[in-house]
Amino acid sequence: MNNQKMLEKAKLLVSGVINLPTIPAIATRVASLLDNPDVEVEEVAELILTDQVLATRVIKIVNSPLFKPMHEITSLKRALIYLGLHRIREIALTCSIIRAFEEGDGIFDIRTFWQHSFGVGTVSRIIAQRVRYPEVEKAYICGIIHDIGEVFLSIYLKDNFQKVVDNLKGTSHSFIDAEALWLGTTHCEIGVCLAKKWNFPADYGEVIAFHHDPLKATLDPVLVAIVNLADLFCSVRHLDYGGREWVSFNLAEENAWKTLQAYSPKLASLDVERFCFELDERESEIKDLVDSIFEGLS
Ligand SMILES: [Fe+2]
Ligand SMILES: [Fe+2]
Repeated sequence: MNNQKMLEKAKLLVSGVINLPTIPAIATRVASLLDNPDVEVEEVAELILTDQVLATRVIKIVNSPLFKPMHEITSLKRALIYLGLHRIREIALTCSIIRAFEEGDGIFDIRTFWQHSFGVGTVSRIIAQRVRYPEVEKAYICGIIHDIGEVFLSIYLKDNFQKVVDNLKGTSHSFIDAEALWLGTTHCEIGVCLAKKWNFPADYGEVIAFHHDPLKATLDPVLVAIVNLADLFCSVRHLDYGGREWVSFNLAEENAWKTLQAYSPKLASLDVERFCFELDERESEIKDLVDSIFEGLS
């Protein structure tokens, strides 16, 4: 099936959902406030305090084992200073996306899903730093949102999606091929439709569209390659969610790896074993982060 047909099918499926969640305006307002280099911490704190759920979440995150403050932080302003303003944009956006889907009861366990997403975000950030990609924060956010279409399918198209999961069992299809075969579209096209609805920047949309097929990227092939590799790493390092086949891959044969090597020749000397070991060390950190975001919020 060609991409255009799959995109049409995705549009149809997304428009058929009446109560499609929205991304709270606060996330975009925080982001644009932070675009001003002279912004004061007080201004950001004031804006975040208008959304109590977000404010509570930021305080929970700062006190989580991931950030390990010496003493418990109870004020939002101190939390912002401790985390650093650049992390607030990430936290505001990701908390909003999580919130958009937390009401839904899906086929995937939602925590495992977000663990995968934060895993891919974290690994994307590490790879971005390694190759000296200039927008490390963007790589992190794109990693977190790359499978957003999957959570939509799991919650809003439960029956069709369950059929894909069931049909896949005992076959050698990849998950994405199974979606194309039994849904007529995939989580990539569905994600693209969501990204459009939520006015995500075009390069975010490209990552969502091509994270399984990085050679198709034209806007920012390096960004797409980073997220593609991070996704593969997380799949083999058990930061994955139910329904996916356990995959193995040979790094040197990946197109994304070649793209990154051309971008950053230093990558050729990367010790892959050591790199995977580094990722293993991050696994519990990522699980702690997801726990701190969800803890006590229901
Ligand atoms: Fe995916
Ligand atoms: Fe993924």
